Amino acid sequence: MQFDGVREKTILIVKPDGVQRGLIGEIIARLERKGLKIAGLKMNFLKEEQLREHYAHHVEKPFYPGLEAFMKSSPVTIICAEGRNAVSAVRLIAGVTDGAAADAGTMRGDFAMGFANVVHCSDSLETAQAEVKRFFSDEEIYEYDKTEFLHVYMEDERA
Ligand code: PPS
Repeated sequence: MQFDGVREKTILIVKPDGVQRGLIGEIIARLERKGLKIAGLKMNFLKEEQLREHYAHHVEKPFYPGLEAFMKSSPVTIICAEGRNAVSAVRLIAGVTDGAAADAGTMRGDFAMGFANVVHCSDSLETAQAEVKRFFSDEEIYEYDKTEFLHVYMEDERA
C-alpha cells in the first residue's frame, strides 16, 4: 500500500480541563472520525522543565505562571495524529485559541469558554516535528498502514 503522502504528524494534547471534564474519548473520536491515524498515545504529568520548553515563546508573558500551574494540575493525554496536511487539519478542527471566539463544531468552540481551551495542537510543521520528539520516544510512535486510508483519500492524495 502506498501511503507516503499521508504521513504528516502533529501533536494534540488533551489539557487538564479536557481530562477532568471527561473529554479524552470525545477528542480522540473526533480525530478518528475526521480520518486521522493515531500514531502515538500516552498519559503524563507534564513537568516544569518540559512546560518551559513547550511554551518557550510565552514564558515571559504575564499569563505564563497561571498557564504552567494549570498545565500541571492534572495529567494530560498526548496524541500523535497522522494524515495528509495533519498539522493544519487538526488546527481547523481544534478552533482558535480563545474558546469563546472559536467556531461552533470545533473542539474549543463546542467545549471551551476561554483559554482553558481543552486542547493544545502544534501550530506549524516545524513545531509539530519538535513536539513529536519532545513528547514521544521513537519506540512510542507506531508506523503502520491504516487500511481505512484507502477510502479516506483519493489515490493521488495518498501516494
Ligand atoms: S497567542 O495569543 O498567539 O500567543 O496564542 P497562542 O500562541 O495560540 O497560545 C497561547 C497559549 O497560552 C495559553 N494561555 C493564554 N493565552 C493567551 N492569554 C491568556 N491569558 C492565556 N492563558 C493561557 C493558551 O491556552 C495557549 O495554549 P496552547 O496550549 O498553545 O493552546
